[in-house]
Amino acid sequence: MVAVAILAAGRGTRMKSDLPKVLHRLGGKSLVEWVLGSLSAVEPVRRLVIVGYRGELITQALAGAENAGTTVKLEFVEQLEQLGTGHAVQQLLPPLEGFQGDLLILNGDVPLLRPQTLKQLLQTHRDHQNAATILTAQLPNPKGYGRVFCNNQNVVQQIVEDRDCTPAQKENRRINAGVYCFRWADLAAVLPKLTADNDQKEYYLTDVVNYLDPVMAVDVEDDQEILGINDRKQLATAYDILQTRIKDNWMAAGVTLIDPSSITIDDTVTLAPDVVLEPQTHLRGTTTIRAGSRIGPGSLIENSQIGANVTVLYSVVTDSTVAANTRIGPYAHLRGHVETGSGCRIGNFVELKNTKLGDRTNVAHLSYLGDTTAGNQVNIGAGTITANYDGVKKHRTQIGDRTKTGSNSVLVAPLTLGEDVTIAAGSTVTEDVPNDCLVIARTRQVMKPGWRLQAKTDG
Ligand code: UD1
Ligand code: CA
Repeated sequence: MVAVAILAAGRGTRMKSDLPKVLHRLGGKSLVEWVLGSLSAVEPVRRLVIVGYRGELITQALAGAENAGTTVKLEFVEQLEQLGTGHAVQQLLPPLEGFQGDLLILNGDVPLLRPQTLKQLLQTHRDHQNAATILTAQLPNPKGYGRVFCNNQNVVQQIVEDRDCTPAQKENRRINAGVYCFRWADLAAVLPKLTADNDQKEYYLTDVVNYLDPVMAVDVEDDQEILGINDRKQLATAYDILQTRIKDNWMAAGVTLIDPSSITIDDTVTLAPDVVLEPQTHLRGTTTIRAGSRIGPGSLIENSQIGANVTVLYSVVTDSTVAANTRIGPYAHLRGHVETGSGCRIGNFVELKNTKLGDRTNVAHLSYLGDTTAGNQVNIGAGTITANYDGVKKHRTQIGDRTKTGSNSVLVAPLTLGEDVTIAAGSTVTEDVPNDCLVIARTRQVMKPGWRLQAKTDG
């Protein structure tokens, strides 16, 4: 039986941010959500998150994550003053009183751990019946991390924080990853013994190794996993590592990436085989892209569902759904819940907002459609604009099947155009139009034959 606790109470001073460090985002999820996600293979019976600095923000941010792959609810434990990682874990004494299992403790700022790593750590801990088992790594540059001193049996003797190390101790490259497994009853018994006798005057969780026996160190296989995020530079390094992981996965799954280093993909995106991503393409949030679609160059797709065989060229699509065989761009912008039918064409310099298009409908050039519903095989002429905002409220425009608007039409909402309507170029349409109707709503051209501007005479 294992419970899990995540340390997330610190501000993260080195981030130089008002936002709690663990809420900084990495590829579509906050750091603490990443840490929660890394628990997917350990089946905890309790999940505790220790919060402090702006804890209400963390509670809110995790409200949606509570059901992520488990039914075990999150318990938030408050650490009112942030007096160190040991002090943070002392706050677990009341909620875990009498708990008879192991406790996995994770720093909230170690986002790249693989679920398998945690599963193995727990297994080793159980197999050896350790009082504590600590994940370690041998780093070429151990600066900033606590150093772990072991005997030759991997039994931990001492952990010394970087700033408390003597020059000789700094030479030790074996570091504490901030991931620990404890027999809870043993840990609970020694937590009250911690003192703040160190450079930071904090209660260090790592000092419990002085009182527990046996404590074993286990090296992680891939030391990229244990990167702790303390500043923006480490956040960027983690992003690089994550992007490589994500892109390698999608390429192995049959997605073509042209110039991968110029492409970014959130971990929350889903791609089908035979998707092609062109350079400078960025896929974010809950985006999914079906087979055969070609995205980019130069496109941003966020929280959107893209059907099969769609092309998106130099365009931005957010919070929208695009059906199969639709062509978007160059230079189009779909936002605020657009839904296109299949085989649509959304062309150059077109903005669609909260708009629904039927199948094979074209908006090919220089248009804005806002709060509009258009049917099938509609043709929106170049420069057609829906005037959807009267300065106070937004209004809808409805356009029936096969209707055609002429170039430079203005459709003043609220407005309903029937089916098979034709709007003459340059019309400003303010009244509803029935089916099968031609509308000309512009002043007639005036011609004055024989008229010429008279040259101005001096004097
Ligand atoms: C810690 C370890 C260090 C290890 C490193 C790995 C200690 C004393 N040191 O150092 O040995 O190499 O992690 O990344 O544990 N937190 C609280 N309450 C507090 C203080 C911190 O909840 O009072 C949380 C933070 O929000 C953070 C985590 O604990 O998520 C780690 O704190 P941090 O200050 O980043 O510790 P490090 O100095 O990195
Ligand atoms: Ca840290």
